[in-house]
Amino acid sequence: MCGIVGYLGNKEAYPILIKGLHRLEYRGYDSAGVALINKNNDLNVYKTRGKVADLEAFAESKDTSGSIGIAHTRWATHGEPNNVNAHPHYSQSETLALIHNGIIENYSVLKKELLSKNYTFSSRTDTEVLIQLIEYIKESNHVDLVTAVQLALGQVVGAYAIAVVEKGNPDLIIAARKSSPLVVGIGDGEYFLASDASPIIEYTDKVIYLDDEEIAIIRRHEEPKITSIENVEKTPQIQQLSMNLSQLEKGGYPHFMLKEIFEQPRTIRDCMSGRVNVEGTHVVLSGILDNKEKFLKAGRIIICACGTSWHAGLIGMYMLEEYCRIPVVIEYSSEFRYRNPVIYPDDIVIAISQSGETADTLAAVELAKSRGAFIYGICNVVGSSISRATHGGSYTHAGPEIGVASTKAFTAQVSVLTLMTLAIGKVKGVISEENYLRITKELQSVPAKMEKTLLLNDQIKEFSKIFTYAKNFIYLGRGYNYPLALEGALKLKEISYIHAEGYPAAEMKHGPIALIDTEMPVVVIATKKGMYEKVVSNIQEIKARKGKVIAIVTEGDEIVKEISDYCIEVPLTEECLVPLVAAIPLQLLAYYIAVTKGRDVDQPRNLAKSVTVE
Ligand code: AGP
Ligand code: GLU
Repeated sequence: MCGIVGYLGNKEAYPILIKGLHRLEYRGYDSAGVALINKNNDLNVYKTRGKVADLEAFAESKDTSGSIGIAHTRWATHGEPNNVNAHPHYSQSETLALIHNGIIENYSVLKKELLSKNYTFSSRTDTEVLIQLIEYIKESNHVDLVTAVQLALGQVVGAYAIAVVEKGNPDLIIAARKSSPLVVGIGDGEYFLASDASPIIEYTDKVIYLDDEEIAIIRRHEEPKITSIENVEKTPQIQQLSMNLSQLEKGGYPHFMLKEIFEQPRTIRDCMSGRVNVEGTHVVLSGILDNKEKFLKAGRIIICACGTSWHAGLIGMYMLEEYCRIPVVIEYSSEFRYRNPVIYPDDIVIAISQSGETADTLAAVELAKSRGAFIYGICNVVGSSISRATHGGSYTHAGPEIGVASTKAFTAQVSVLTLMTLAIGKVKGVISEENYLRITKELQSVPAKMEKTLLLNDQIKEFSKIFTYAKNFIYLGRGYNYPLALEGALKLKEISYIHAEGYPAAEMKHGPIALIDTEMPVVVIATKKGMYEKVVSNIQEIKARKGKVIAIVTEGDEIVKEISDYCIEVPLTEECLVPLVAAIPLQLLAYYIAVTKGRDVDQPRNLAKSVTVE
């Protein structure tokens, strides 16, 4: 989590850093800070609890001059969000300043040692230990700052992306990464540093993605130098960014989340582009074709993901088993990585991650790789750590997702999983021609059906006001709609802070039905085909106990309309594709309830977009 920005060049650093922090604020937003070196070579650190706007207000009357600086927006792991724990952290002599994303796991051992050397600490963070350690090594070993950083990182256990600057040295930023992302941007006589490319894109499209345990030494008027922690020099791989600036702006919408909900017809078209032919009769997924033998030989597929990506994975599991006849299991990455799972060499692990940086999923990938499995990634962020750690994969092409609550990335993940199912089913020769053609054709019509579903916006906005009183919600679905129920509940709790649970509709009678009373809204996804009649019975059970039913039904449905309290009609589609269309009313419902309650929709409390700590 957390956003890191750095600048070294010929312009004033502060406005660039602040703009960059705003772009990265989705990654963490409980405190923010900046360190700048001015013309007199002073090292000024300004930091405060709160958002980047609070930092701007705090620094308004301060000296923010200088053409070099580093900045941070925090998502606290160690020490509450307050002014002292905010980054950057000074070293004891206040000649060094450091920002950090990640966790120094052995910080207490290091701290004890430094305390015995008379170092004192002002914050409760793990981060401060690292900058004190760097200073201690620099002073006691009489080495330069680069060497001190290398030696200190050699002692660190944990995850980090860091940047360090030094008083009196306005020509140098040292950055390093291990398990937390960091990108160096190369402009014309100026250099940028950031957790992802979004703060860099308006200045340059040339970047270097640092790899684990690499250090970037950024000096004025010199090409950036990349070394390992052991000081072995590496050749920088300069890459070109394909992102554009308008993708990072709200484009007239009040929130990124609403913009991203409305972008879905286009993102699904982008996701299919070049992969489904115009006639809708053929799917070409290069990631599958390039690894055809692996998929032919696969004895099992293990899907690893977290949160919303896990929900997409569950839909993928249902599809892959139904149409490809391969056994599939789905795992929370955080559990998988620590439970010594049985992994066979003919297993394929599919890692799903919007950010491509989720620490638990990355660790699951590394574990499965070390046990000889073939790893396939489904990521949204191009060049992200997970996409680079996998053997093959398919990007979702949803474009940057800024709202912390995932929307368009979810439907793009489900679309990629559908394409994978069709491609693998074809390669294995197990999907019938009829199913293959019908689903491919129907997938092509999903964007138009999403457009139609988005016309429900005003209706959902209106009736969502009724539910702001609710303290709890239940979401129900069966078959492909069960993962969607989980996703609907997650959306609501993330941004409205209303407690919500998703269940397979038939599980109600095994316990949760005890919760039903006149106060309990129950969202039921009761679309046609699949287990429609069974779900109708589940609705009857809720109504018999006076629950309030909000039903998502197929257009023209009369039966559920009759028995439910509120009814949202979505276009008819193939059973496995219903989650793509029916996700929209659930996203809008969560969005408008949260807006009515005055919540910070794009940056809900306690969350961050990219969970780079475990
Ligand atoms: C989604 O709304 C959540 N904010 C969260 O559950 C997210 O899906 C999860 O952290 C996984 O992220 P990833 O897809 O970037 O790996
Ligand atoms: N562990 C550090 C802290 O709590 C860094 C957190 C972050 O990545 O923002 O300050």
